[in-house]
Amino acid sequence: VILTQDELKKIAAYKAVEFVESGMVLGLGTGSTAKHAVDRIGELLRLGKLKNIVGIPTSKKTQEQAVSLGIPVSDLDHHSTIDLAIDGADEVDPQLNLVKGRGGSLLREKMVEGTCKKFICIVDESKLVKHLGGSGLAMPVEVVPFCWKFTANKLQNLFEDSGCVAKLRNDSKGKPFVTDNGNYIVDLYLKKDIGDLQVASDAILRIAGVVEHGMFLDMATTVIVAGELGITIKNK
Ligand code: A5P
Repeated sequence: VILTQDELKKIAAYKAVEFVESGMVLGLGTGSTAKHAVDRIGELLRLGKLKNIVGIPTSKKTQEQAVSLGIPVSDLDHHSTIDLAIDGADEVDPQLNLVKGRGGSLLREKMVEGTCKKFICIVDESKLVKHLGGSGLAMPVEVVPFCWKFTANKLQNLFEDSGCVAKLRNDSKGKPFVTDNGNYIVDLYLKKDIGDLQVASDAILRIAGVVEHGMFLDMATTVIVAGELGITIKNK
């Protein structure tokens, strides 16, 4: 049997939910993979197999999904410690560093996943890469709308040596994509990898118009990968 990518995402998500225990405060991720995990948590609550869960959503979309499933939700103002977060990623490197944010929720994801005791990242095997940003896909950066072109130019110049092209993300109507926080996303397209990731991260965050970027360095404690040959669990 050849499984679809969505079936693989679901397998990884269900595996991660096996680590959820009653009474936990849970970071609820965003995206098509995390959606399966949230569905499963809702189902287990409904069946009475899980009790006293508090969900901390990483986007408005996940918040709506959680509420529709009857999962009690709260936020970081009320729960500054999270037991476990489960979320997808766009890229995973061999050190378990991630690129996230192609769905646009990177800021809230980073806030929630930066404060959890355990962060399980769930992916299908297509997300595995040797170097972050090397897959030809976008490295997302959330920027304030004010003079976004100025900020995009600064980002592009920063990674000139990697052949970086910075583009404003548009929505389906051709208007600037607006994040849950009212910001824009500049996607960085790189021809070569950007070298030391921590150095790149620091340099991006020093640009004043930048709010956050999608590199999640040294944050995932576990990555669950679902592939044609089964599930692989990688621990930090
Ligand atoms: C949302 O902003 C992202 O970080 C997602 O978590 C990531 O893009 C993974 O999405 P999929 O599970 O839909 O591939």
